[in-house]
Amino acid sequence: MVSLVLVAVFLLWGAVFQPHQAGGFKITHSDASLNHQEITETAIIRKAAEVCRDKAKAQGKDFTLPVNNKLTSTTVQKACSSSNSALSKSTNFKSAIVTIYLNNIAVDRKLFSDPPHFDNEKFSEGRDIITKGVARVKVNLKEGNYLAARKNLGAVTHTLQDFYSHSNWVELGYTFSFSALIKPDLPLNNTADPKTATCKSCVDDNCNDNILPEILQKKIITTGYSSLLSPDKPAGKCSHGGIFDQTSRNDPTGGINKDDLKSAHGFLHPKAANMAINATMELLEDIRQAAGETDFLRLIGLSRTIMLVFVIDITGSMSYEIAEIKKVSINIIDSRKGTSDEPTDYMLITFDDTGVKLTSTGNIDEFKELINSLSVSGGGDFPEMCLSGLLVALTRAPPSSDIFVFTDASAKDPELKNTVGAMIESTESTVTFLLTSFISPEVSDSQSSSSRPMTQSELQLYRDLAHVSGGQTLEVTTNTLSEASTAITDIFTSGQVTILQKARSAGNAGTFFFLLDSSLSNVIVYIIGDSLDVILYSPTGGSQSGSVINGGLGSIQTVGNLKKITLKSDFQTGQWGISVNSTSSYTLKVIGQSSVDILFHFVNITLGGHGESWGQIFTRPSIGQNATLFLSVSGGESATVTDVKLVDASGSSVVNGNVTSVGGTDYLVSLNRMPEGSFGLRLEGLLNSSLPSSRFQRQSSIHHKGSRITVTTCFPSSTVETQTTTIPGVSLSFNFTVSTNTTAGNYTIRARTSNGFTVTVPSSLNVSTGGSVQGTGTLTVPSNTEFGTDVTLIVEAEAPGSTDLNYATVRITASATSIKFSGLQSFSMFLSLIGLFVSLLL
Ligand SMILES: *[C@@H]1O[C@H](CO)[C@@H](O)[C@H](O)[C@H]1NC(C)=O
Ligand SMILES: *[C@@H]1O[C@H](CO)[C@@H](O)[C@H](O)[C@H]1NC(C)=O
Ligand SMILES: *[C@@H]1O[C@H](CO)[C@@H](O)[C@H](O)[C@H]1NC(C)=O
Ligand SMILES: *[C@@H]1O[C@H](CO)[C@@H](O)[C@H](O)[C@H]1NC(C)=O
Ligand SMILES: *[C@@H]1O[C@H](CO)[C@@H](O)[C@H](O)[C@H]1NC(C)=O
Ligand SMILES: *[C@@H]1O[C@H](CO)[C@@H](O)[C@H](O)[C@H]1NC(C)=O
Ligand SMILES: *[C@@H]1O[C@H](CO)[C@@H](O)[C@H](O)[C@H]1NC(C)=O
Ligand SMILES: *[C@@H]1O[C@H](CO)[C@@H](O)[C@H](O)[C@H]1NC(C)=O
Ligand SMILES: *[C@@H]1O[C@H](CO)[C@@H](O)[C@H](O)[C@H]1NC(C)=O
Ligand SMILES: *[C@@H]1O[C@H](CO)[C@@H](O)[C@H](O)[C@H]1NC(C)=O
Ligand SMILES: *[C@@H]1O[C@H](CO)[C@@H](O)[C@H](O)[C@H]1NC(C)=O
Repeated sequence: MVSLVLVAVFLLWGAVFQPHQAGGFKITHSDASLNHQEITETAIIRKAAEVCRDKAKAQGKDFTLPVNNKLTSTTVQKACSSSNSALSKSTNFKSAIVTIYLNNIAVDRKLFSDPPHFDNEKFSEGRDIITKGVARVKVNLKEGNYLAARKNLGAVTHTLQDFYSHSNWVELGYTFSFSALIKPDLPLNNTADPKTATCKSCVDDNCNDNILPEILQKKIITTGYSSLLSPDKPAGKCSHGGIFDQTSRNDPTGGINKDDLKSAHGFLHPKAANMAINATMELLEDIRQAAGETDFLRLIGLSRTIMLVFVIDITGSMSYEIAEIKKVSINIIDSRKGTSDEPTDYMLITFDDTGVKLTSTGNIDEFKELINSLSVSGGGDFPEMCLSGLLVALTRAPPSSDIFVFTDASAKDPELKNTVGAMIESTESTVTFLLTSFISPEVSDSQSSSSRPMTQSELQLYRDLAHVSGGQTLEVTTNTLSEASTAITDIFTSGQVTILQKARSAGNAGTFFFLLDSSLSNVIVYIIGDSLDVILYSPTGGSQSGSVINGGLGSIQTVGNLKKITLKSDFQTGQWGISVNSTSSYTLKVIGQSSVDILFHFVNITLGGHGESWGQIFTRPSIGQNATLFLSVSGGESATVTDVKLVDASGSSVVNGNVTSVGGTDYLVSLNRMPEGSFGLRLEGLLNSSLPSSRFQRQSSIHHKGSRITVTTCFPSSTVETQTTTIPGVSLSFNFTVSTNTTAGNYTIRARTSNGFTVTVPSSLNVSTGGSVQGTGTLTVPSNTEFGTDVTLIVEAEAPGSTDLNYATVRITASATSIKFSGLQSFSMFLSLIGLFVSLLL
């Protein structure tokens, strides 16, 4: 349990006295105290188990939790999905939990704000934060914006949990939680006013009974006072207590917080922490009741939400392919129907010479109808606005969407390459290009005659973007399109993990090694390149040539420029190898099904009121500077991570990480330098949950990049709101700064929102090296926008000559609250969607 207020002077104190932890949030554990992270995770896991038990019961099915075993995200997800096969893989559950608790922890990074922490008798303000936040979560769920809902939920749980540490609720002997904090219609009665004396000084550092007897008798609820700067507090008031709290040195001395076992009321820490878990579960139940079972399961990631997106070129030159593309799209849709990968939403984006059109729906039949009614239009002029179409998809679809792009031409808008790459990285969506007219010599009708084969450099643009996203670029004739798309459907099936991913330039033969562990099944090796020569080696020295269709190690299928090797189901665990020769550049990807997967976010470490705390950053880290990753292994009860490295596109290690466990299977990884160019993350470790223990390897599917440009945003911030807000119908003006360590000159500035709302920024800024330039932007959210709607704003700056690009992503909530201007604020993240209309972003 933790929290407080912070000030520069004391940040230094924290750094001197306790470099790694101080009082509250711990990065590592030295004792049995529970922190916000554990309280939040425990509450979600317990509530999830309850929901699954209720569901199973209602369907007359058995639901058994592992006996003698701690409830973890892995055990609960397993138990839940054994009674309900439609539930998602453990990565989604763990990922939702991580998003929620990272946003819980982030509340400790806020400056000068006691209401979010229930100090200084700020009861109604604290309750307001909770009830407003819960209302936002409900709006987010109604709008299908699960990521925003998780973020708001995380912030709310922090404030709720702090109440049980910072007030005397536990001292009053209550064995149930304070429901009035969640339910605005209940009275906040029996709370102390600022004039009521509540404490006496502690005797010899013993604070066990410093609360005044009459307060306890009358069951008056009170909180501690706390300040990092000033010892002043109203007469007779309890303090929070602890090294950072100046007020605790003034009479009455000492404190009442239960942040951890060593706190002033540390003997009550276990009770307070457990009460906080129960209160968090009560809040989750409130949301479950309001949102319903389906949305609740999606909120906590037990049920997967996925948007399937097609970006289709409908210019005249596609007339030959369009029928086949419709067939292939419908096949992709149908192949997922009724599986745990069935999309919850669909989006179609078409582009031609006149622009980009977007339509989305949650209804599968409506979507198929839409696809079937597609017709080509416009002239056959060449090339097309492909990246504009893809950019709309990435901006409007929720993160982690599956995007398929069909075109026969090179992009008319290659200047958007860096923007699209950055959007892929920040949304973690997977993009697959199906390039159809690549070789179509048989086509001779008038419209297709305007086509010409794409040059290698034109193709490379698509290959590079697919690679960043962990997707594929298939270059096929119209006749093999269908076969090719079937061959890659495995990439999108549930529980897929990436073991190895590499790209090599032309003429670069190579031998690559990868570890297969006992948790894996359905292992597939994809190689994409021209005239491929391949030899596969097993751990015991067996080998199979790429020309042997059915060999001792697996079966091999060749379609267009793709080779797909499906390993035999009884493959050996251990180190495998593969040698590849190709006349062109090629990519290699090894995937398999496993519950053991990784997720990571870049974080920065800040000194907050309770010492070091970390939070996600929503911008590219600086090249050449150090950086920190938060890394979580899901689905591995006792996975131990031993090595983490950043690898470049060719798969070579560029930077080794320094791994510190932060509890369970979560780690902080410090990197002493951000590399140039794009990189993925590869890790190795040991799985010893099953015997014999087995070394495992995973690689991130998405590639990331650092930058030499820094973009920060500055919004008017509010004293009452815990996040950036905007009033629908009123223009919100904000500042942003761009600084650079690379080329000086005319930087291109772009901004967009996930909702397609209007945002204006100057089109360019003149930035000098080492200097910093400020720009002003305006965001206008339409007046009919529902309060609580989440708006994700992205501001980006691109260096002259497209040599570098960085962005800042900010989350803003539509709110009725008026705002006052002050300090700096920059948080948050990208996100989501739902619109049913035409949008021209560019
Ligand atoms: C507040 O008042 C209501 C009604 O008088 C009572 O039922 C409830 O127990 C009180 N709550 C607290 C925390 O004292
Ligand atoms: C939390 O709730 C559980 C189940 O209702 C109960 O057994 C436990 O005593 C509660 N814990 C506290 C600290 O109130
Ligand atoms: C690739 O080419 C090299 C040199 O010609 C040859 O030694 C090697 O066996 C080839 N590898 C494959 C997989 O064909
Ligand atoms: C990272 O870099 C910053 C700024 O250069 C420095 O203050 C900090 O000590 C570095 N951290 C590590 C772990 O090297
Ligand atoms: C797994 O193995 C590693 C290395 O041998 C060991 O440090 C760790 O404690 C083991 N974990 C479990 C849960 O057995
Ligand atoms: C890794 O981190 C530990 C603890 O912070 C530190 O002592 C050690 O020097 C670091 N190692 C490297 C190679 O940076
Ligand atoms: C630019 O370089 C200076 C000195 O090397 C460094 O302190 C600063 O952090 C760098 N900024 C970026 C954005 O890389
Ligand atoms: C933006 O910058 C201008 C001029 O520097 C300043 O007056 C204004 O308060 C800033 N706005 C915000 C939201 O910080
Ligand atoms: C900067 O570039 C923009 C286009 O990105 C152009 O419109 C503008 O004229 C340029 N400004 C200068 C001063 O060169
Ligand atoms: C940018 O600013 C520098 C110095 O202020 C100036 O010399 C240069 O001409 C400006 N460039 C543009 C394109 O305006
Ligand atoms: C860490 O990130 C937050 C949010 O982006 C930012 O406000 C803060 O200044 C950053 N702190 C450091 C030390 O970089």
